[in-house]
Amino acid sequence: MAVLKRLLIVLGLAVTPLLIGLLFTYDIIKIEWISFMEIQPSFIAQEAPLPLPARSVPIQGAAYIPELGAPPNPVPADAASLERGKTQFEINCVICHGATGKGNGPFAAFLVEKKPPSLLEGRPLTLSDGEIFMTITNGVGKMPSLKENLPTPEMRWDVVNYVRSLQKGP
Ligand code: HEC
Repeated sequence: MAVLKRLLIVLGLAVTPLLIGLLFTYDIIKIEWISFMEIQPSFIAQEAPLPLPARSVPIQGAAYIPELGAPPNPVPADAASLERGKTQFEINCVICHGATGKGNGPFAAFLVEKKPPSLLEGRPLTLSDGEIFMTITNGVGKMPSLKENLPTPEMRWDVVNYVRSLQKGP
């Protein structure tokens, strides 16, 4: 009998720590384990990107800081820029503003509330290059932002240059 009793005590001593251990490992008793991978600035899928560090400046310049107002046009309107601008204008703008910018694109008929204006007269003539650039970047009124279609600032400046050449006429 004495042997059995001793065996029970030994078993009890061995099993009790195991049971207590299981309480922790099965999240019954929750303890914040230190995990160094988590303690760092990072973002995971579907989380908003980290905010920019203070005083950082986007390498594309004013293009991405709308608060700075309309930026000056850094892209010279040479033949190569106009050629690229024409291609992008035909892809992204003609559908609404028309091939010559008169506002008679094939999609214009379906826009009921606000028709795309002619780019060749009135207000668009008075806009600076930078203002047209910001219009393409952020959209205006019923015109959508096209910065996803024209992802680099250079593409948008090419389109601005092309719009200017349309306004000057042939
Ligand atoms: C989905 C149709 C649509 C597309 C595509 C579109 N526009 Fe527009 N655009 C409009 C409409 C509508 C307006 C008038 C916005 C308003 O005043 O509500 C407008 C206005 C403008 C203006 C005048 C802005 C102002 O402040 O008066 C400019 C310049 C312009 N668009 C240029 C462009 C250029 C360049 C592209 C191509 C990169 C383009 N648009 C693509 C529909 C479009």
